[in-house]
Amino acid sequence: MQDKATISYDGKAADYPVIIGTEGEKAIDVGKLRAQTGCITFDDGYGNTGSCLSKITFIDGDQGILRYRGIDIAELAEKSDFIETAYLIIWGRFPTADERRAFEARLQEHAKLPESMTQQFQGFPKDAHPMAILTAMINAMSCHHQELFEIRNEADFTTATAILLSKIRLIAAYIYKHGTGDSLFVQPSDASGYTAQFLTMMFSWPGKRYVADADVARALDLLFILHADHEQNCSTSTVRMVASSEANLFTAVSAGVSALWGKLHGGANQAVLEMLQGIKDRGDSIESVIAKCKQKDSDFRLMGFGHRVYKNFDPRAKIIKVACDKVLDKLGKTDPLLQIAKDLEKAALSDSYFVDRKLYPNVDFYSGIIMRAIGIPTNMFTVMFALGRMPGWIANWKETNENPKARIYRPRQIYMGPKLRSYEEAKKG
Ligand code: CMC
Repeated sequence: MQDKATISYDGKAADYPVIIGTEGEKAIDVGKLRAQTGCITFDDGYGNTGSCLSKITFIDGDQGILRYRGIDIAELAEKSDFIETAYLIIWGRFPTADERRAFEARLQEHAKLPESMTQQFQGFPKDAHPMAILTAMINAMSCHHQELFEIRNEADFTTATAILLSKIRLIAAYIYKHGTGDSLFVQPSDASGYTAQFLTMMFSWPGKRYVADADVARALDLLFILHADHEQNCSTSTVRMVASSEANLFTAVSAGVSALWGKLHGGANQAVLEMLQGIKDRGDSIESVIAKCKQKDSDFRLMGFGHRVYKNFDPRAKIIKVACDKVLDKLGKTDPLLQIAKDLEKAALSDSYFVDRKLYPNVDFYSGIIMRAIGIPTNMFTVMFALGRMPGWIANWKETNENPKARIYRPRQIYMGPKLRSYEEAKKG
């Protein structure tokens, strides 16, 4: 295989090294392009741009493959749990039994929020969007852990990781309680297991302790595993971008939460449910929804469909679809929105608009049905995505922070604005 590519421009040609990844992915290293040709690359939306070399997650979008640290997502979904998967993603290997016990003890140690952080909730309007509060509260961790601004060693990193992974649960539970108008915040739970503990924090009220059903906790744990990392998506790239300036881990992750919020990214899970509910409430036919996507002047999209990388199927969506039926069965519930989702999927997958553009259900298409069945309100869905994505953000921050060759992320641009003009000329308009 060729290990260099030749680029010629304006009569000059230069060779550029070709980097080949573990799974055969190829990249032309254009690091010297500007010096050698005077040109930069232009790649709107970064669809062809590799921003880093990473050992964390592999995706082959054409084959529908997703692997964390070399292990297929379906195998992890079947055999692992969120904390083991988080450890794998962050440290690159499974924990030994002792390491796992020690890590869980660290999570337990950091389950509470300091009183001053709890009081901050009073400053947020009751109807504030949960993602706005989450961003602020994760960033507030920087105020309370200034000793971790600089991660000097593995012990500092483990502490910061335990703080983020553990405290986000109580923050999420408090956000929910705050939104319901209840100011009596629950205490960290003593239930067993990361996700069961979270559910207990979320749904317990003073004098009424919620005990999570094992299958329900497992279903949410599965969602967390499936969301745990996804290579250079918008929020993870944001975390790396912020990390590249040597900003601290908490503030970098908070930036990731902001990036996740948008409806083209993590916010899609809320948008899917709202779309399905709207279809049900208005009594729209499936045909009319599909037709609306295809209208030339319409910016309507089938939320939970399509992906920048997956062009065959999203392996996470396949797993979630099966889990949906199981959870509803277990809870003895039916959900009319699940049937609408299935009908939409069937119609879209046999429609040339979607087939030609390789648009398939993504992770967000069915995840909301599971969360709704568990009792999680729609506006909290993206917060659940953030809980799941935390290990991926931390691992990507770590990789950036530990790279001795890392440089600040600083893309260039092509300026298309006005040419040089005087102040007076510009005032004239
Ligand atoms: N419904 C209808 N048409 C669509 C959709 C959709 N969901 N997604 C893409 N298209 C069309 C789009 O209009 C365009 O058509 P044309 O070529 O005629 O202009 C074509 O497909 C390519 O779309 P694109 O916007 O260039 O694709 P992209 O790779 O830039 O965007 C995406 C990817 C995920 C933002 C997009 O598919 C989308 O908006 N999906 C709906 C939102 C969604 O579900 N987001 C969650 C993504 S998965 C979770 C995560 O990891 O964030």
